[in-house]
Amino acid sequence: MIRETEFLVLGSGIAGLSFALKVAEFGKVILISKTSLEESNTKYAQGGIAAVTYEPDNIKKHVEDTLIAGDGLCNREIVEMVVKEAPAQIQQLIDWGVSFDRNEKGAYDLGREGGHSEYRVLHHKDKTGEEIQNSLVKRVKEHRNIEILENHFAVDLITQHHLGKLVKRNQKNTDCYGSYILDLQTDQVNTFLSKITLIATGGTGNLYESTTNPKIATGDGIAMVYRAKGVIENMEFMQFHPTSLYNPGEKPSFLITEALRGFGAILKTTKGEEFMQKYHKKGCLAPRDIVARAIDYEMKISGDDYVHLDCSHLNAKKLKDHFPNIYNKCLSLNINITKDPIPVVPAAHYMCGGIKVDKNGCSAINRLYAIGEVSSTGLHGANRLASNSLSEAVVYADRAAKDAIKKIVHQEINKNIPEWDSQGTTYPEEMIMITQNYKEMQQIMSNYVGIVRSNLRLERALRRLEIIYKETEELYERSILSQKLCELRNLINVGYLILKMAQGLHESRGLHYTIDYPKKGSVSEF
Ligand code: FAD
Ligand code: SIN
Repeated sequence: MIRETEFLVLGSGIAGLSFALKVAEFGKVILISKTSLEESNTKYAQGGIAAVTYEPDNIKKHVEDTLIAGDGLCNREIVEMVVKEAPAQIQQLIDWGVSFDRNEKGAYDLGREGGHSEYRVLHHKDKTGEEIQNSLVKRVKEHRNIEILENHFAVDLITQHHLGKLVKRNQKNTDCYGSYILDLQTDQVNTFLSKITLIATGGTGNLYESTTNPKIATGDGIAMVYRAKGVIENMEFMQFHPTSLYNPGEKPSFLITEALRGFGAILKTTKGEEFMQKYHKKGCLAPRDIVARAIDYEMKISGDDYVHLDCSHLNAKKLKDHFPNIYNKCLSLNINITKDPIPVVPAAHYMCGGIKVDKNGCSAINRLYAIGEVSSTGLHGANRLASNSLSEAVVYADRAAKDAIKKIVHQEINKNIPEWDSQGTTYPEEMIMITQNYKEMQQIMSNYVGIVRSNLRLERALRRLEIIYKETEELYERSILSQKLCELRNLINVGYLILKMAQGLHESRGLHYTIDYPKKGSVSEF
């Protein structure tokens, strides 16, 4: 089957939904989501969305905090642009129906997180993401120019390659004509042709055994663009959140928001000793990379499986009122956070790198935009400042929409694209070929490419990943496509990019820490 549309939007988190709402007045939108419209990383966001609202905060302070967290690799021009434009886009969210908590004076009740020098995080209790996701989904469902296709999995982008032409990375004239999309109900791969395609497929947390990301975060967009010969950057900067709830076997790991530390919670060893002041003058509110490394180190020294986050000294009523989600979750595990310490461990959380884009979200491939977690804009550098990703997503949704609306008048749908060829493929005989390789990949990445790295670990990881890469490619060639197989293939692809970029960086910087080059100050060679 062939479908045509003006705007093809892949992904239904904050980035895809916001873009869809902005362009829908200017042309037909098909919005693709691989599970339900509601499921996304966005839905699980807790802390909130960072923006300057009141004095004593100001743009300069938010810019400086972002640059410091990014450890010298942020693009200052982009940081200034996002910080300046975020308040207007947050107002847009409010206009779409998102509600942020206010205090008794009617002003926004601002939270604080690691690396922020001021209270500047707008939130909805500790369920900010759910509030945003639900409000935007409601709006999108009401829009008659947006067609929603759930349980549809984007497999590959369509370029000149599918017309039999040679496409090379870094060439300027590669065009995106749409995407091949697997209908998960019929197992058919259909051809979606578009004037403009937007990738907003989110993160890559499932590369690791332990992650705060839901199952959908499998790096599909990054892998698709890499295969289509687009440009990917900064993949070595995988962010581990310092505090996920230690509850072995639970997937995804439940997040214990950094805003809890902003509210006064303190990290302690299981013996009850505070330790963060040893590592940074901001203590528990140091930038995230530093806190995660400190916890990792303390756990290795003590041999403990977790450290503690202590809230017992905080006002119990206010604590329950501000963090009902965390309070109830912990209580379901017999942890009363007003009295008992919360066992926490770091978990894979956010991909700072991704598809390289310009200030309007344009990728290196014409007619292809990438926004949200899947993109690399220059805002985060080597380590993202907490709660900056939701702001980045809405600022770029606005910029990409404005740019796409201007350009769409010059685009035609390419009608010469061949349909997906699945001749000679069969259903894989044994699912174990996929599930075992998935587990092995997660073990390789967790054990060798985690918070602390070394040349030896990276070499080992690459050798092992190459074996499962070959096996998976062979299986892919002869198989009728399934979501799990495509996701495994994409994750291996993303793991490879992380490894190659990590190997090319001969220094420790931000989220990339290697014992072979413990200092900052070399260059990337990838
Ligand atoms: P997502 O919200 O992940 O949406 C991706 C969409 O793409 C999904 O709909 C998915 O189904 C779809 N998709 C993926 N692959 C395919 C495919 N192949 N075909 C079709 N559809 C596909 N950031 C903050 O700024 N503040 C916070 O407080 C905060 N808290 C967080 C808490 C948690 C637990 C997590 C996991 C993240 C948090 N983050 C936070 C990060 C932030 O939530 C994400 O970076 C952001 O929501 C990403 O939005 P997105 O639209 O780019 O992607
Ligand atoms: C959190 O609430 O701690 C997560 C915030 C973020 O990832 O930006």
